[in-house]
Amino acid sequence: MDSAVWDLGYLAAALLFILGLKKLGHPRTAPTGNLYGASGMLLAVIVTLARIESETGIIGWELIVGGLAVGTLIGAWMALRVEMTGMPEMVALFNGFGGGASALVALSEVLSRLDEGNIPEGIPLYATWIAIGLSGLVGWITLSGSLVAMMKLKGGFSLPGGKWVRFPTWGPPWLNTVKVLLLFACLGFIWLSIQEPTNEQWIYGLIACATLLGVLFVLPIGGADMPVVVSLLNSLSGIAAAFTGFVLMNNVLIIAGSMVGAAGLILTFIMCKAMNRELRDVLFKAFGGGSDRETVTRTKVGSDPDEVAMLCDGIAKCIIVPGYGMAVSQCQHQVREFAEILEGRDCEVKYGIHPVAGRMPGHMNVLLAEANVPYEQLVELENINSEFTETDVVLVVGANDTVNPAARSDEGPLAGMPILDVDKARVVVMVKRSLSVGYAGVDNDLFYEDSTMMLFGDGKEMMMRLVQAMQEL
Ligand code: TAP
Repeated sequence: MDSAVWDLGYLAAALLFILGLKKLGHPRTAPTGNLYGASGMLLAVIVTLARIESETGIIGWELIVGGLAVGTLIGAWMALRVEMTGMPEMVALFNGFGGGASALVALSEVLSRLDEGNIPEGIPLYATWIAIGLSGLVGWITLSGSLVAMMKLKGGFSLPGGKWVRFPTWGPPWLNTVKVLLLFACLGFIWLSIQEPTNEQWIYGLIACATLLGVLFVLPIGGADMPVVVSLLNSLSGIAAAFTGFVLMNNVLIIAGSMVGAAGLILTFIMCKAMNRELRDVLFKAFGGGSDRETVTRTKVGSDPDEVAMLCDGIAKCIIVPGYGMAVSQCQHQVREFAEILEGRDCEVKYGIHPVAGRMPGHMNVLLAEANVPYEQLVELENINSEFTETDVVLVVGANDTVNPAARSDEGPLAGMPILDVDKARVVVMVKRSLSVGYAGVDNDLFYEDSTMMLFGDGKEMMMRLVQAMQEL
């Protein structure tokens, strides 16, 4: 068949990717965007298989169909099983799989070329070996870095005996020199593999150095800065796929990889802005490190839902600030019910959304949309902060780092991160189980302020009791 037919198929797939990405820009159109993206990918797979079948004949349909079946089963099983709070780890793992797939394709391409003696010469050798080398370099870094990021997000891993080992954040000052040396070693191996293309050892040297570089790249990055790292790894998985597209001369892979690479990079910069960090500082200064949990020695007497309900009776303005604890306890529906009761009593209600609240970008938006909270009520940090001074009650549901005034100081893992200025409101009510720290491991002075009331307990149980108390007033 004419190659123009395949190109048209790829063009249609690329259009679906672009439209999908555009629709992902708004929560309401995001499900359609997802569907467009998935349809584009299906079309790209079908066109690729049909093209190979027509040009060379596919050897082993069994392997392809078997692989698709096993992949589909594992993917469906993981997606059905994962808790909403486990999504970030899954995203990190999928980034790693993306990078690993590109790296393996590059490896198989170089090995089969060596096997067949199909080694180009001159410029084509440079072009092919550089594409293979860069695909391997970025792919292995993404795979090993994402696995470390996944374990850091999980907090650690359990040993065969069931003992839980906390994943360390480790970054002595000399580590940056080691990382730079490893990067040069990787580039050196790519260069050597071009000089001596039949020597596989250079390829294995590249794999070892790139894998170690991925681990050392993520290891020093601590607590609060993980959002930046995960989105950067997402971008790298796309870049690796784009390089693999050059290896295979596959246009749609180049387009899709570049789009993931660019979108991930934009998200990385948005995350850096949210954390008030420079990307180079996150990568080389181990900013968010030192997140060993502090022991809380202070105490605070808790309030009860009846007391909070009485306080909320007759107020004019309330801002609800959700955080990771809302995701854990899945209390978004009760939060909406609480808001509706207030609105029924002529109280203005808004939601203050911090860009890194929860454990993945847009985490709170997704949960609140699921509970049918009107999107117009969700206000981002930079727009809501001026409103706290005129707010009667701020209800903080399972948020901690994102409202921690310690971020205003120059020290510690949260230093410099913009926060929601909830402490400027008349009263702050915090729903959480204890006085313990949040993800970054920093004690929160807000709990001990006179204007702060603590509602100790699981988010869902507390919100249910609060809603009931409000209804009984
Ligand atoms: P965190 O600072 O992580 O605090 C969440 C709080 O929720 C905890 O202090 C915990 O206190 C409480 N909690 C847990 N389970 C609960 C339950 N069942 N019921 C009620 N409360 C519960 O949350 P945040 O303010 O959303 O900040 C997010 C943090 O995660 C930031 O440091 C951010 O950098 C980091 N992070 C974000 C992302 C993205 S992209 N969003 C990705 C990785 C990391 P108790 O134990 O006392 O209940």
